[in-house]
Amino acid sequence: MIAFKKQISEILCDAVKKSFAGSEITADELYEMLEYPPDSSMGDVAFPCFKLSRALRSAPPMIAAKLSEASFPEELCSAEAKGPYLNFKISEKYLCRILCNEVLEKGENYGSFDFGKGKNVVLDYSSPNTSKPFHIGHLGTTVIGHCLKLLHEFAGYNCIGINHLGDWGTQNGKQIVAFKRWGNKEEVEEKGCDGLVELYVKFHEEAEKDPSLNDEARAEFKKMEMHDPENIALWKWFLDISLKEYNVTYDQLGITFDHYMGESFFSDKMDAQIQIMRDKNLLMLDDGASIVDLSEYNMPPCLILKRDGASLYPSRDIAAAVYRKDNFDFSKCIYVTSAGQSLHFAQWFKVMELMGYDWVDQLVHVPYGTVSIGGEKLATRTGNVVLLKHLFSQAIEKVSAVIDEKNPDLANKAEVSEAVGVGAVVFHYLFNTRIKDISFVLEDALSFEGSTGPYVQYTYARTCSILEKAGNTDFGADFVPSITTDEEADVIKVLARFPERVLAAIEDYEPSYIARYAIELATAFNRFYHNCPILSCDDEKVRSTRVYIAKAAGIVLKTALRLICMRAPEKI
Ligand code: ARG
Repeated sequence: MIAFKKQISEILCDAVKKSFAGSEITADELYEMLEYPPDSSMGDVAFPCFKLSRALRSAPPMIAAKLSEASFPEELCSAEAKGPYLNFKISEKYLCRILCNEVLEKGENYGSFDFGKGKNVVLDYSSPNTSKPFHIGHLGTTVIGHCLKLLHEFAGYNCIGINHLGDWGTQNGKQIVAFKRWGNKEEVEEKGCDGLVELYVKFHEEAEKDPSLNDEARAEFKKMEMHDPENIALWKWFLDISLKEYNVTYDQLGITFDHYMGESFFSDKMDAQIQIMRDKNLLMLDDGASIVDLSEYNMPPCLILKRDGASLYPSRDIAAAVYRKDNFDFSKCIYVTSAGQSLHFAQWFKVMELMGYDWVDQLVHVPYGTVSIGGEKLATRTGNVVLLKHLFSQAIEKVSAVIDEKNPDLANKAEVSEAVGVGAVVFHYLFNTRIKDISFVLEDALSFEGSTGPYVQYTYARTCSILEKAGNTDFGADFVPSITTDEEADVIKVLARFPERVLAAIEDYEPSYIARYAIELATAFNRFYHNCPILSCDDEKVRSTRVYIAKAAGIVLKTALRLICMRAPEKI
């Protein structure tokens, strides 16, 4: 809970009890009712009294007037009744406390929590299908997943990031058919992932004309499941090629996984689960395939085994969940995939419940919307994809051109161009509410103005430059800041909200809250920077306060950027 809101809600609770005998309302309930008014002239925090009018059988303005008589300590806030609202203004003393005793003292830990201590969280994200290109559609699972991992770590959880590679399925059979028919070792060695994708696209073109190729692919996959040495060797080789390429992208994003544990890892762990389904009479035959009927739950049947006995995606997910529970003892297992897979997750979660696993409610599916470029949907089969690596290199190139023009003497130009170029793409993506479909426009992402990554990174670099020029930035424990303008106060108020945003982002699995917060803070900081002279300020105390504000804003901007998988260069 956020300290000042907590204090206000406790005082309010006492006041309600005093003025309205018999009230049962708790401080926690009042805390939840507190709001941030859209316009600071209405106070910094407001209490909408109409939320109590029924329980207290009084008109809201009456309640507001009564509660405003309570004694709110001067070092916390002042309260004023306005119509049905009770508006609070945070005191200057309290703002100084947030600045010094919270942000500056806690530094990069400001905003963190410890409620996750001693608990494990497994995060299943990125998980591309091997042999397919890593395209812009994977951006979502990769960055949302990693961001959720960083956020949970920030709340004290022990996190285990797993790349559940799609390395075991008919698509691998297709790859093998394509390679055996049209492939060539040297060419694939040379072209890497691109060579594999060409074969994949060719397979689908040919299968359009000759559908029997699909049966052939199923047969090759079935051979893989029977440990056929030739197919396994090919499969391993394809896997290495894919991983090498994915790692380039993961490095650019600063993402590492604790485990690469793909679907193939579970190929020998499904039988035990299928046996449980049999024992519980859950399996039914349907045209030769084994299914679990879910009509009672308004869902299509969950396919467990194909007609030829080959396992399916849901079976592997069930085996993986059990393995993770046994080995990682998770309190939550989070899956980040496109919303297109929501039904798949709902189905196998239900099957697990029917199997008797009583920890099914610890499995969380976090879906996200689709990405299109210029409104066009992407599909690997037709070759209509925008590869993430190409998007990143375009972004890096464009940023590098801007730096060449604006700051040609910058020391580590290549590194900064990568941090800003890749960061711009990531930020542009994460800024959207995750479930919304978005149309990606690179030019918008790269702008140094507006709600963009470069804007936030640039603002962070600005705070660094102020501190560098200021020289001494530690004014000692006894220093009492002097806040003289609204712009200064506004920056501190935004800083005060950071822990709350972190908490909400974790609760709602919503990285966009952090991206939006970063914009809010950068905007407040820039308003302050433009209206309040910092280094040229004559008053020593005011100057020091402003340097402190720049320092605190820098710390929190850097943390916010880190939490959304972005780097924060000190100079751009
Ligand atoms: N490989 C899948 C795909 O690319 C995503 C896997 C998500 N994780 C899982 N446990 N099903 O669509």
